[in-house]
Amino acid sequence: MSDPTPDGWRALDRYFTDTLVGAEPGLDQAVRDQADAGMPAIEVAPVNGKFLHLLARIAGARRVLEIGTLGGYSTIWLARALPEGGRVVTIEAEPANAAVARASIDRAGVGALVDIRVGRGEHVLPTLAGEEPFDLVFIDADKESGALYLDWAARLGHPGTVVVVDNVGRAGRVADPGDTSAQVEGTRRALELLASDPRFEATALQTLDAKGWDGIAVALVV
Ligand code: DHB
Ligand code: MG
Repeated sequence: MSDPTPDGWRALDRYFTDTLVGAEPGLDQAVRDQADAGMPAIEVAPVNGKFLHLLARIAGARRVLEIGTLGGYSTIWLARALPEGGRVVTIEAEPANAAVARASIDRAGVGALVDIRVGRGEHVLPTLAGEEPFDLVFIDADKESGALYLDWAARLGHPGTVVVVDNVGRAGRVADPGDTSAQVEGTRRALELLASDPRFEATALQTLDAKGWDGIAVALVV
């Protein structure tokens, strides 16, 4: 096996995407509308969206919490994994993003399953404490607050809840001690919490896909 070249890994990701994910009108339109609305193209890659979808089905998730809706791309993938009566509660800090996501989620046919809560995670998460616990939590919001979001994931979950954290690799920067940016330091604090907090068992995987070189942490609430 040789080291990946940019052309090589991009071609492999396209092959996996074309072969196993394919085109899907609702999801593809959500990405176009997100771009047209001026939002950054930082939704998860298609292979990653399908991974989240499959993980929700593997876990038998009925209630999913997403922190960071953006244009609703991953939200649609997650909502499509749910049984009748299931729910995705997704938190979005930016009202304009939430409006675009709402339209895309409705157009994709899963509007009845998705509850968008507009506000910053730190304010919205405490309001969910009285609700039924979540079976899967996907954290994909500001990287500075990762540890706070993980603490809430443990509180709002139950033993067996699956937690996924996006962007824990950041092109290798998370392992570079010279990188002291707020996002990288926030990501390290999140990973250190996963390692030391007895409520979690966790690992992380590097990802090399349409969004470049990054990583996801996958954790179980124990
Ligand atoms: C950024 C955020 C993300 O969630 C992502 O998947 C990629 C990049 C960012 O803020 O740069
Ligand atoms: Mg992300």
